[in-house]
Amino acid sequence: MPFRKVGVVGCGLMGSGIAETAARSGFPVVVREVSDALLQRGLEWIERSMARGVERGKLTAADRDAARGRIVGTVRLEDLGDSDVVCEAIIENMAEKQRLYQALDEICRPDTVFASNTSSLSITAMASATRRPERVLGLHFFNPVPVMKPVEMVRGLRTSDETLAAGRAFAERLGKTVVACKDYPGFIVNLLLVPYLLDAIRALELGVASKEDIDTAVTLGLNHPMGPLTLLDFIGIDTTYYIAEAMFEEFKDARYAAPPLMRRMVLAGLHGRKTGHGFYDYPRS
Ligand code: 3HC
Repeated sequence: MPFRKVGVVGCGLMGSGIAETAARSGFPVVVREVSDALLQRGLEWIERSMARGVERGKLTAADRDAARGRIVGTVRLEDLGDSDVVCEAIIENMAEKQRLYQALDEICRPDTVFASNTSSLSITAMASATRRPERVLGLHFFNPVPVMKPVEMVRGLRTSDETLAAGRAFAERLGKTVVACKDYPGFIVNLLLVPYLLDAIRALELGVASKEDIDTAVTLGLNHPMGPLTLLDFIGIDTTYYIAEAMFEEFKDARYAAPPLMRRMVLAGLHGRKTGHGFYDYPRS
């Protein structure tokens, strides 16, 4: 059965992007945050993103209004009870995720599929917190979700073929290109990206070059849209830190160890664009 109703848990950068993209693709969406303040912030991000979409001619004002009308925000997990698929985009912390999946397992129908947007944690471990491990998969989106094409579809050890087929059909209805991978830390993109981003911080710490020159070198030398330090600000230094920690925990390999500067920036609240300060400053408009 194709999915009709979409639930999203977490309305941060990724959750808001997933909720927006699903609503723009015609799905009714219920998105849940833990507090009214975080929910309002997430809904504002959706508003701003859709306004950019209208400005850039990617959607009409009427389609934006229709998409907005399909999104319901809530702080009650119970409101996701009749979802056909629940996309989870909460903090990269396994204990938190397992607690959430246990709660969702009680609230949702037995046939509801759970799709985690985790960038590095084990789908199999999340699935094991539920009584429906065959209905749990990874659908890892990229930031900004409405713009970025790929979705990494991750098969846990017990994910069924039927769940993968439904997950693929859903991601394709969102206009995404699906790449399939196994439940391996970092999947495809972060396995390659995270050591590169950490090395850029190490280069800065070592004084190899200024942040501007590191970014300019990569932007121009490799033709990337953003240099690594700008990209870290964009993804979130905290988010990248949690991903790196999870990968280090799995591999015990120094390549995935967060550099001291990164840890201090996380502790200081210098998380990048979302907090207004990271490697660069982002004046609030
Ligand atoms: N809705 C729809 N389309 C939108 C949009 C929106 N809200 N906002 C922008 N767009 C479109 C624009 O129309 C434009 O499309 P076009 O090329 O057809 O004209 C395109 O998106 C680019 O937008 P802009 O011109 O406004 O902006 P830039 O050219 O400055 O690009 C960017 C912005 C897409 C963010 C670009 O800088 C980029 O690609 N950066 C790298 C992003 C990246 O690497 N993301 C992955 C991070 S890793 C990750 O997410 C995984 C996680 O686990 C860590």
